Amino acid sequence: MATFIFPNLLISANSVVFVLLILCSWKKSYAFQGTKSSTDSNDLHHIIHVNALLPSAVCNSSTKVSGLDKKSSLQVVHKHGPCSQLHQGRAKNHLTHAETLFQDEARVRYIQSRLAKNSGSRSDVKETDDANLPARDGSVVGSGDYIVIVGLGTPKKQLSLIFDTGSDITWTQCEPCAGYCYQQQETIFDPSASSTYSNVSCNTALCNSLFSATAGNPLGCESSTCVYDIQYGDSSFSIGFFAKERLTLTSTDVFNNFLFGCGQNNQGLFVGAAGMLGLGRDKLALPSQTARKYKKIFSYCLPSSSSSTGFLTFGKGRGSSKSVKFTPLSKSFRDTSFYGLDITGISVGGTKLSISESVFTTAGAIIDSGTVITRLPPAAYAALRSTFRQSMSQYPKAKKFSILDTCYDFRNYKSVTIPKISFFFSGGIELAIPQEGILYSISVSQICLAFAANDDVSDVAIFGNTQQKTLQVVYDGAGGRVGFATGGCQ
Ligand SMILES: *[C@@H]1O[C@H](CO)[C@@H](O)[C@H](O)[C@H]1NC(C)=O
Ligand SMILES: *[C@@H]1O[C@H](CO)[C@@H](O)[C@H](O)[C@H]1NC(C)=O
Repeated sequence: MATFIFPNLLISANSVVFVLLILCSWKKSYAFQGTKSSTDSNDLHHIIHVNALLPSAVCNSSTKVSGLDKKSSLQVVHKHGPCSQLHQGRAKNHLTHAETLFQDEARVRYIQSRLAKNSGSRSDVKETDDANLPARDGSVVGSGDYIVIVGLGTPKKQLSLIFDTGSDITWTQCEPCAGYCYQQQETIFDPSASSTYSNVSCNTALCNSLFSATAGNPLGCESSTCVYDIQYGDSSFSIGFFAKERLTLTSTDVFNNFLFGCGQNNQGLFVGAAGMLGLGRDKLALPSQTARKYKKIFSYCLPSSSSSTGFLTFGKGRGSSKSVKFTPLSKSFRDTSFYGLDITGISVGGTKLSISESVFTTAGAIIDSGTVITRLPPAAYAALRSTFRQSMSQYPKAKKFSILDTCYDFRNYKSVTIPKISFFFSGGIELAIPQEGILYSISVSQICLAFAANDDVSDVAIFGNTQQKTLQVVYDGAGGRVGFATGGCQ
């Protein structure tokens, strides 16, 4: 009977009420201000060609990835860029900057609400609030997503999946699309054409393990096949059969019986991608399912722009790992899908901002592959903005754009000098944000500081993907740490 899938579709579409996002208005003054930068050395600044800040319409896939074994890595491209297969012949895939930042805000609100509700160990959450809340996070489809191509089934089918460190379950749209399949670039996966596909049965431990990977949504059963239901914060969702299949990551890395969702009802902002690749911390996420081979280690490099390519690689010793600096995973988000970080400070132009430690510890921070703009506690953002503005005072200002409130008009410049920004993390590591990660370009006359403030001191901070560009980011789930190396890709 198809009774499970269809009624659920109705509930799904209506149950997520989208609250209109009222972008925050920032307070004019804050207690903590940075001290003035007194030196003017080039070590403390980036000199950037203005042309390089503007996107190119052609893919330059010849970009070099240093010291990386290409056979064992997947190529990473931005969902909306010219290097994405999804881009070809589909003008509609292009999001405006306003849409990008609006969706980014939706993703951030959703992550923050999940983490606020889930933090049972935190003293600011009342015991009674916890009782009827899901045990784990859900996840969100964002605007800033990156794509890799994996092989599924036998013979294998190439599928473009959005990879997400904030998601657990991997799924793809599946024939016969009993409910609905949105348009995707590749042909939809057909399990009946694969010799290695098998369904997971209801009332098994495997089926029950879905509970934590799908934010505690009720499990379903159809003709004794286990049914998953993953809801994303923006009312996107995928519902279908929970199944096992052969997953081919690279020519040498093939996994039999990989658990995934064979989506029969799929809707949302997936923009032509065939589904999602979950890189979160649940046991159904890819790092745990492949832990025997990779020890829950993976790393990626997000390209400097949507017109170049990066990589996603699994396991230890792949890629240039010598210069990786590690910070321990934060204990704050241990029981969630997310990878928590402890930020301890920020410097601008070589000067450490005076921000009291409690500003960062109050709500904690996570790193996310799908959030575009780094969100900071209000006091930390105010200090960053103030010092950044001081060192940019020679440039004409431009009006604010969406969540970005510190913008400049670079029309009359060939190159500009911007202060270097570093983040400090527990373990005493300093991460110099690459120059590609400091500004967000709307147009040459409106180029903005690519950071934003959270509304509230209790909102989790998020280290977003603009700031991760060109870094090799190493997730070491078994070692309980996250590492960074500069110059991972271009
Ligand atoms: C493509 O990337 C390479 C390596 O970064 C660079 O040298 C070359 O100039 C780029 N080509 C274009 C057309 O941007
Ligand atoms: C998987 O389960 C669904 C629902 O019961 C069924 O329609 C389908 O034929 C099954 N596929 C296989 C290969 O058993």
